[in-house]
Amino acid sequence: MCGIIAYIGSKPAYPILIEGLRRLEYRGYDSAGIALLDNEINIYKKKGKVQELADFTEKVDHSPTIGMGHTRWATHGKPDDVNAHPHPSGNHDLAIIHNGIIENYSSLKEALKKLGHTFTSETDTEVLVHLIEEMQKREHLSLESAVRQALKKVVGAYAIVVMDRKDPNKIIGARKSSPLVIGVGDDEYFIASDASPIIQYTNKVVYLNDEEIAIIDRKNGLEVTTFHNEVQEPVIHEIDMDIEQIEKSGFDHFMLKEIFQQPETIADCMRGRLNAVDGWVKLGGMQEYINRIASTKRIIIAACGTSWHSALIGEYLIEELARIPVEVEYASEFRYRNPILDSHDVVIVISQSGETADTLAAAELAKSHGALVYGIVNVVGSSIARLTHAGSYIHCGPEIGVASTKAFTGQVTLLTLMAIVLGERNGSLTTSYYHELIAELAVIPNKVAKVFESNEKIKYLASEIQQRQNALYLGRGYNFPVALEGALKLKEISYIHAEGYPAAEMKHGPIALIDESMPVIVIATNKSAYEKIVSNIQEVKARKGVVIAIITPEDHEIRNMADYYIEVQSTLEPLTPLLSVIPLQLLSYHIAVSRGCDVDQPRNLAKSVTVE
Ligand code: G6P
Repeated sequence: MCGIIAYIGSKPAYPILIEGLRRLEYRGYDSAGIALLDNEINIYKKKGKVQELADFTEKVDHSPTIGMGHTRWATHGKPDDVNAHPHPSGNHDLAIIHNGIIENYSSLKEALKKLGHTFTSETDTEVLVHLIEEMQKREHLSLESAVRQALKKVVGAYAIVVMDRKDPNKIIGARKSSPLVIGVGDDEYFIASDASPIIQYTNKVVYLNDEEIAIIDRKNGLEVTTFHNEVQEPVIHEIDMDIEQIEKSGFDHFMLKEIFQQPETIADCMRGRLNAVDGWVKLGGMQEYINRIASTKRIIIAACGTSWHSALIGEYLIEELARIPVEVEYASEFRYRNPILDSHDVVIVISQSGETADTLAAAELAKSHGALVYGIVNVVGSSIARLTHAGSYIHCGPEIGVASTKAFTGQVTLLTLMAIVLGERNGSLTTSYYHELIAELAVIPNKVAKVFESNEKIKYLASEIQQRQNALYLGRGYNFPVALEGALKLKEISYIHAEGYPAAEMKHGPIALIDESMPVIVIATNKSAYEKIVSNIQEVKARKGVVIAIITPEDHEIRNMADYYIEVQSTLEPLTPLLSVIPLQLLSYHIAVSRGCDVDQPRNLAKSVTVE
């Protein structure tokens, strides 16, 4: 949700900013802009993708060695050249880029108007840069003091970078509830929303904490202070990410690369945590709290989007394998409905990015009520990872396609490990089932790879149904959340309306929609309630619906009934989601490609939703 990049050093800033914006484009892509500081601040902004900005700025002076860039996901004001960032102050001395929302911007704007400020954009961000200008003018403050004073008046979430024509050897970053990472090179510094635009220059980063300001000066280097001006010792982390991880590596899209990475990413998630030869599972992140988690009366899992679907699978897994009651909450609802929480509760938050505003707020809320908060996160060092008491990374590597794929299977793998660990501790798993689960999990990556053999078939199937306006996804048990996820994937990237339903619920409404134009994707890989799902398929067929069944190779009955089928290997029922979701990811990918959609950057969406 908006990407920020800034540079100060001895190299020309321009190529670093443009390349950085390309890396950050997955965060927002309705417009982009850069500001370069020499004797004055020059701002260039363009509606559309970063490439449009790059073409527009090809001939401008690329020599300045300090600058900032922004790629936008609109909140206040439509996507156009004027609303794009950076925004200048009224006197054009300052420039700002911002990720987040200034909630009280309209009252601040009114007050500033009365002081003579005029505004050119519809954004909340422009108000903030005028406020900083006003602080400088009224109280003759240094840039950092003016930023500090202005932020005291601001309500909302933000990561910002500001620079000042009058102070050309300095750049300032500040954050509250939105991420900001400082890259520390040799006499050069980077400020960015995440590490992806930084790692080709340095692997040393400082994660700015909430309510901290980074003051980067060519002479004095990096200084970090709190909003109350207390000096903090910046902690330098060495990040383990290589450039290959953020390239498409020969695939047409990041999403396709990420789908095909899943045999490795699932294995990476289990590495050091599962040993099939010796027959054990452990989760380092849980060790300190294992008794508290295993003996809790209930676990609440809060998440958004695809992570919420993983949470639903987590509910099935933990209740079945560990016999602990689980409630699943949309983080956005949970945080605002005054939930009943106390120190006996265990709250698990799941987030790929570790930055989703609602999930972060849910974690903060749970923590403030004394609950134990456990994070399941992909992005190392992210806000949720740092806020929670304990947690486990899913170790999938950067996920860049906006539609989540490998993070979903990573989260489900992690939840499976967690359920097995808790089940073993609680004595709710027989020894033989414990070992069976471990042995089967160990071969899941191979079974995922086997699904890829159907890729061409899925592509053909996609071409058959790509013109449809609607689709229905049905599943039972562990495959019900998979149906939700399949429908979400299709909606997100192909803009076809799709619904996921528990198969039996079809009769309570969606059946009215079924006719010969409705594809119904039935996920039928579970053995329990098999006869029931066969009946559901018959009900669809009786109404001329087009049935696409996801089945196991030995299932001849559904194969004969379905219009189309895709096979996945059979496995233990709790592990079925890890296989049955793969053809659905591929199906939505191929449908989107055949409809000419922008798979990696679907309209209106953003990878990381850092606003409420
Ligand atoms: C956005 C993304 C989804 C993601 C959701 C939650 O909507 O487009 O792919 O599932 O946010 O994100 P998180 O990073 O918290 O898992």
